[in-house]
Amino acid sequence: MTLRDLAARHGLSLGAALTERGLAVPRYRELAATEFSSVTPENAMKWDHLERDRHTRTWARADAIARFAAQHGQELRGHPLVWHDQLPHWLTEGHFTPAELATLLRTHVTTLTRRYAGTVTAWDVVNEPIEDDGSPRRTLWHEALGPDYIAHALTWAHATDPAARLYVNEFNALAEGPKAKGLHDLAASLLDRSIPLHGVGFQCHLLLGQEVPGLARTLNRFADLGLEVAVTELSVRMLPPVTPAKLAAQAATYRAVVEECLAVPACTGLTVWGIGDADSWVPQGSRSRYGTPTLYDDAYRPKPAREAMARALGAAVVTACGRQVRALPIRGRADAPAEYPAVSR
Ligand code: G3I
Repeated sequence: MTLRDLAARHGLSLGAALTERGLAVPRYRELAATEFSSVTPENAMKWDHLERDRHTRTWARADAIARFAAQHGQELRGHPLVWHDQLPHWLTEGHFTPAELATLLRTHVTTLTRRYAGTVTAWDVVNEPIEDDGSPRRTLWHEALGPDYIAHALTWAHATDPAARLYVNEFNALAEGPKAKGLHDLAASLLDRSIPLHGVGFQCHLLLGQEVPGLARTLNRFADLGLEVAVTELSVRMLPPVTPAKLAAQAATYRAVVEECLAVPACTGLTVWGIGDADSWVPQGSRSRYGTPTLYDDAYRPKPAREAMARALGAAVVTACGRQVRALPIRGRADAPAEYPAVSR
């Protein structure tokens, strides 16, 4: 079974971050279409990609990914509307007044949400708004507009596309600590003010050996606010050389993240950040010493991590007494019996 089908049995959407360059590769396209039920444009909806030159928006790349998702019956996660990174130079170096920046941001948010209304099912409206110490990140937007830029962005997005699920997306907030607390306080205060926030996304860019104990507990704390939660960006990078032992450890980490998400009924989706190691962002960026972070190798052959995810999603279905049973506890029921009836035939 495909990962997509396995995840569907839990009501979980399984996503991948896609690039338009990747979609030109037949095997990449095939995996993107068959293994995943949700798509996030890795870069194509970022402001610097859409409006490199002021007043000239280039929609082709984002539209190509949106079309791909529609063709394959996939959800589309828009990413991101408001971020401090990957902004065009004309914006960061434009010496705009706070009032001008507010207008620019509002135009950006409403233009994207209007264009993809009915297509994007969920938006990462604000990406990475919290510092490691739990305080608001001092971004261009925060400094110019104050902390309410987040509430404004959510409100503008909701006004343009009331059907879209609106998320705040954050990294390094998987376990209890000042950052997770700052994020929780932010979410709680937005909800207290009836600001349209529907979910919190947890980036999960892990280093080999990094574990995720307590992730389900963290997710549940946000779910207790009445929010949905999602693992929005999963990758597990490692230093070379790649060995079978390292691939096995990577597989165990992928499996652990899936299990933490499945243990939380409000965890609606899990997205891996990239399909194959060949096109991963990891070796290209500031983490260039690392690599090999995805489910498929350089030739798009499945790695142990892909099989571990399949097992975690319940591929270990066995037939007993004419009924299918799966080895894992049912979703959200950590205390369920080891063999819990899943599908009757
Ligand atoms: O667009 C230029 C292109 O014109 C140029 O030819 C090329 C040359 O290297 O660079 C291109 O831009 C790069 C872009 O990826 C597209 O490939 C940027 O330099 C590069 O910095 C950018 O990296 C992206 C990174 O976000 C930027 O911060 C990664 O691909 C992308 O995977 C990564 O994704 C982020 C999420 O959005 C937020 N969470 C963390 C995650 C990983 O950093």
